[in-house]
Amino acid sequence: MNTIEAIMNRKSIRKYTDQPIDEEAIQTILKAGMSGPTCVNARDWQFIVVQKEEVLNQMADANGRPAEPLRKAKLGILICGNTDLAFKGAKDYWVIDGAIAGQNMILAAEDLGIGSVWLGTWPQMNRVEGLQKLLWLPENLIPHSIIAFGYPAEDPDKSSKPVFEENKVTYIR
Ligand SMILES: Cc1cc2nc3c(=O)[nH]c(=O)nc-3n(C[C@H](O)[C@H](O)[C@H](O)COP(=O)(O)O)c2cc1C
Repeated sequence: MNTIEAIMNRKSIRKYTDQPIDEEAIQTILKAGMSGPTCVNARDWQFIVVQKEEVLNQMADANGRPAEPLRKAKLGILICGNTDLAFKGAKDYWVIDGAIAGQNMILAAEDLGIGSVWLGTWPQMNRVEGLQKLLWLPENLIPHSIIAFGYPAEDPDKSSKPVFEENKVTYIR
């Protein structure tokens, strides 16, 4: 699969088979996350890799009802921003750095035939605080998003992809 195909074909997958995700695939996904650009090359993230079912369920509890897919996922990666490492001139760039890492991991998974869905955490502070408490995170690690992964047990309708909305583009030529 080439990059454009991965981007254009990807759909959120919320139902997963029982097939485990092997260690090599997990490491590839993590490397993809850490291959993203970061402001001033701060690399201001921390990735919490969860395969334990009990903890995936607790994370689903902390992240509210839209995080239900985590309960059946084979892997959940919580992306955290590390504010100690973030660009001192404008720390909020950690949010952008975390989002890029997340999309890179989703696209790497797509290439490996692994489905995923983004589960929003920040800026919903009840979710952020719930995950901080659950995982005993230090103050400098801010939960950004959870990505749930697993081999697809659903075949989402891709007929509307790729989505292109001409009215959302302004050309200055
Ligand atoms: C910031 C963000 C937060 C999201 N949160 C959730 C979520 O909590 N639960 C969920 O099932 N999907 C979540 N999604 C996935 C979106 O619902 C999904 O990407 C969107 O409906 C488009 O569908 P597609 O990913 O299949 O193209 C989130 C996506 C983003 C980017």
